This record gives sequence, structure tokens and C-alpha cells, in this order.
Amino acid sequence: MRLAGKTALITGAASGIGAACVGLFKSEGARVAGVDLSKSDLVALDNSLELSQSLDVTDKPAVDAAVESIAESFGHIDILINCAGITARHVPSGLSWDQAWQLVMDVNVKGTLLITAAVMNSQRKGGTRGGSIVNMSSIYGQVARPSFLTGGGKPDPYTHSKGTVLQMTRDLAMSGAPDNIRVNALCPGFIETPMIQGLRENPETLDALIELHPLGRLGKADEVARCALFLASDDSSFVTGTSLAVDGGYLAV
Ligand SMILES: NC(=O)c1ccc[n+]([C@@H]2O[C@H](COP(=O)([O-])OP(=O)(O)OC[C@H]3O[C@@H](n4cnc5c(N)ncnc54)[C@H](O)[C@@H]3O)[C@@H](O)[C@H]2O)c1
Repeated sequence: MRLAGKTALITGAASGIGAACVGLFKSEGARVAGVDLSKSDLVALDNSLELSQSLDVTDKPAVDAAVESIAESFGHIDILINCAGITARHVPSGLSWDQAWQLVMDVNVKGTLLITAAVMNSQRKGGTRGGSIVNMSSIYGQVARPSFLTGGGKPDPYTHSKGTVLQMTRDLAMSGAPDNIRVNALCPGFIETPMIQGLRENPETLDALIELHPLGRLGKADEVARCALFLASDDSSFVTGTSLAVDGGYLAV
């Protein structure tokens, strides 16, 4: 039980990597709270979650209130896993490119920052107990997307947002260090979750994606959750301000 006695808050908990973290963290002994924009999908997870709440991570008053109430229920939030995220494929149709850019940045960057700031403020009240925060960046926080994925021509807000998450991780790690709050990031390659379902449905695109990963396959949500567990737990007690690629070798080529 690597998380015995710990509490965890997971955003984007209703789907994909966030949902995998819920299950794994519970099985490792943590008390887990999950928040997500999607209320109906959260309901399906209700048996696994001690606390669950519908929450838009871009809504500051709602984020502050949710963190305050979860911290009060748990006494202290040891772990925050920031999984809420979208790509430009998920924005409503009809938005101009700059409106789509803003929406992706709002969820992936501002949303991650708002909830991290609220949790860090709350963790500071716990004295030296500190905490561990794991942000979800991407391989596309480090390299550009190949043009067969972007269609070319338009700025790709997803890569901009995930690069920013990496720099934000370093900055927040510096501000958290004096209070024993560690902040790290994961950079997944392509992981089989609803986020990339549309891409996987096209056999040619799927083959091209697999080709980019030297291990010869896409990753599974549980494989990312197990790396989040390492960064969240005391196994990584001297690790902060850095990132771990979970990418089947994508970035090594
Ligand atoms: N799947 C991949 O290939 C992949 C690769 C690299 C990084 N990531 C990142 O990992 C994280 C999790 O992705 P996933 O694959 O599990 O995606 P997913 O689409 O399965 O889950 C994302 C969850 O975030 C929630 N969400 C979206 N906007 C929100 C908001 N404003 N407030 C609260 N919740 C919101 C969604 O409702 C959804 O449940 C994302 O940040 C994603 O960018 C995923």
C-alpha cells in the first residue's frame, strides 16, 4: 500500500487517465476525491470515489470552493493529479481558430493553474506535511505535432498548452519547495482513452501513430496512472520540478 494514510484529489476523474488513477490510488490505500466537468460519467465512478463533484476547472470561484470543501472533509489534500484536459478536436464547432486556441489554453493551462494554486494554498496550512502535485503535459509539450495530425496551417493550441504546463510545473515546484510541496509532470505519448478515440477509428492514422512509438503500440491509461503513482508517492520524495515521459520511446527517436 504505497498511499496508505494519504488523500488524493484527481481532476478529469470521470474518464481515461484520471479514471485509471482513481482505481489505482484507491487500491494503494488512498482516500480519493474526483472532479470532472462531466457529471454523468462521474456518477458511474461513484462507488470508487469517497467524494465526487461536477467541476469546471476554469471556474475560479467554483474551484476554490471545491478545494476548500474537499480539504475540510479530508483534513488535508496530500496529492493532486491534474488530468482535466482537451484538444482542439474537442472544442465546439463554429469557433474561430483564436477562440478555439483560447478554450484549449483555458482548460489545459488556466484550469491546471487554478486548482493547483488552490490546493497548494490549502497544503501550506498543513505545515511540513506538504504534498505532491502531478500535472499532465504530453510528448507535445516537448516536440511539435506531425502535420498529418494538425492538417497544417493553423496554430496548434494543444502543443502550446502542454509546453506551458511543463514550464508552469518548474515554476510551481520552486514556489512549493520551501513547504515540502513537490510538483512534477508526466509527458504521455498516445494513450488509448476517449481523448484519441476519433484518431484510432481511422486505420491509416492508427498505423501511423503506432509507428511513432518504438515499442510498437499505443499506451494504456493504467500505464500512465502507475507513473503518476510513483510521482505522487513517497517513492519520489527527492523528485521535483521535472517531467517523466510515458511514451513507448516516442521522444527518444
Ligand atoms: N490520451 C492521450 O493520448 C494523452 C496523451 C498525452 C497527454 N494526455 C493528457 O492526459 C490528460 C487526460 O487525458 P485522457 O486521455 O484521460 O482524456 P479523456 O478525454 O479521457 O479525459 C479527460 C477528462 O477531462 C474532463 N474535462 C475536460 N474539460 C474539463 C474542465 N473544464 N473541467 C473539468 N474536467 C474537464 C473531461 O470531461 C474528461 O472526463 C489530459 O490532460 C490530456 O491532455 C492524454
